[in-house]
Amino acid sequence: MSRVRIAPSLLACDLAAVAEEVRSVEAGGADLLHFDVMDGHFVPNLTFGPGLCAAVRAITALPLDVHLMVTNADDLLEPFAAAGAARIAVHVEADVHLHRSLARIRELGAVPGVAINPATPVTALDEIWPLAGFVLVMSVNPGFGGQRLIPETLDKLARLRSIRDRRAPGVELAVDGGVEAENSGKLIDLGADILVAGTAVFGAADRGLAVARLRGEEVR
Ligand code: DX5
Ligand code: ZN
Repeated sequence: MSRVRIAPSLLACDLAAVAEEVRSVEAGGADLLHFDVMDGHFVPNLTFGPGLCAAVRAITALPLDVHLMVTNADDLLEPFAAAGAARIAVHVEADVHLHRSLARIRELGAVPGVAINPATPVTALDEIWPLAGFVLVMSVNPGFGGQRLIPETLDKLARLRSIRDRRAPGVELAVDGGVEAENSGKLIDLGADILVAGTAVFGAADRGLAVARLRGEEVR
């Protein structure tokens, strides 16, 4: 079994000190950097574009994991790929031509992901497992950091894992929203390959300790 990968979400960092924040999690042992793109339509909040992504790309070796919470994902695939995104997730609820979007992301050289909201049934992914590189399982309603994990997500993650194991063993499962040291062990047991965490990492003074605690490692 491979070690769980940790993806700190920049949404929770101090944007006035973004370079230091990125370096602190890189030094702290993070595996990916999660980049929450919100458009004020698909979700009520508004965040970053490809410009910040390119700026961050220039100062880190960590792969950039772009989570598009937008209604026009297809228009943004090329700009984010050009800005250095290594992985790009689009929402199943927002994307009417999912096959096309996932194929396009792959063509652009990034790993394609499908994000799925808490209220969307797992059957919404039935036709796309073979095309996805990862599934981003939302454990909160997207739009804001610092929310509590929705408990029903645990059972959903278990069901996604069993479908994944049967149908597409190469597809990774990432969990996003309300992930903290108190629930990460459970999420790992249920099948999470990647944990996205904003508040639990950037809200902690010691980033290395926060990352280790999410992995469930013994910390002194
Ligand atoms: C929510 C975002 C998450 C968010 C997680 O819309 O997709 O990535 O940053 O933040 P925390 O870990 O604080 O719930
Ligand atoms: Zn996210």
